[in-house]
Amino acid sequence: MEQLIFATSNEGKIKEIRAVLADTDYQVLSMAEAGIQIDIDENGADFEENAIIKAKAVHGVSHTLVLADDSGLEIDYLDGEPGVHSARYMGENTPYQEKNNQILKRLEGVPMEQRTARFVCVIAAVFPDGRCVTVRETMEGYIGWEARGEQGFGYDPIFYVEPAGLSNGELSMEEKNRLSHRGKALEAVKKELL
Ligand code: IMP
Repeated sequence: MEQLIFATSNEGKIKEIRAVLADTDYQVLSMAEAGIQIDIDENGADFEENAIIKAKAVHGVSHTLVLADDSGLEIDYLDGEPGVHSARYMGENTPYQEKNNQILKRLEGVPMEQRTARFVCVIAAVFPDGRCVTVRETMEGYIGWEARGEQGFGYDPIFYVEPAGLSNGELSMEEKNRLSHRGKALEAVKKELL
């Protein structure tokens, strides 16, 4: 069995990648399981740069196959905000209920057709020899009129996949993984590994 390290401390992401790679020869280790403890400054200008920064930082220590992801929400009416700053928008420790309410306020009165948005996920893979590839996938939708649903996390309650549809906060985990930017990017990176 070949080992790969997924450069994240998020257990949910580790579970997702394990599920996608379950039928392959890859054993997925978290950074903690690989015994790697480094602080990584995610100061890239876009999702690709950030994913590559993370994957290369871990590869620099492990010299193994490393995957890293970076993701966020782009709202067209707000010129792509919060984008790469999604986690830091209004402060890292501000509850998402407040962040979501603030976004709904900034879009008050904005008609449906101008509320388009997408979740973006980029995954970088750095191979043992240092070769690097990235994949990018999106989940297209729009910002709704209200926050709905208890599932998911982050901006899920205000993101709707189709007009009059359900918010991401109302989708089951299986449904969301099938449709989501991250689910699709994991499938795309799997193709790069095989
Ligand atoms: P990271 O890629 O783990 O750094 O995540 C960046 C940020 O983007 C998260 O903290 C969330 O604010 C947002 N985000 C990324 N994916 C999702 C999602 O599927 N639902 C809701 N928010 C998300």
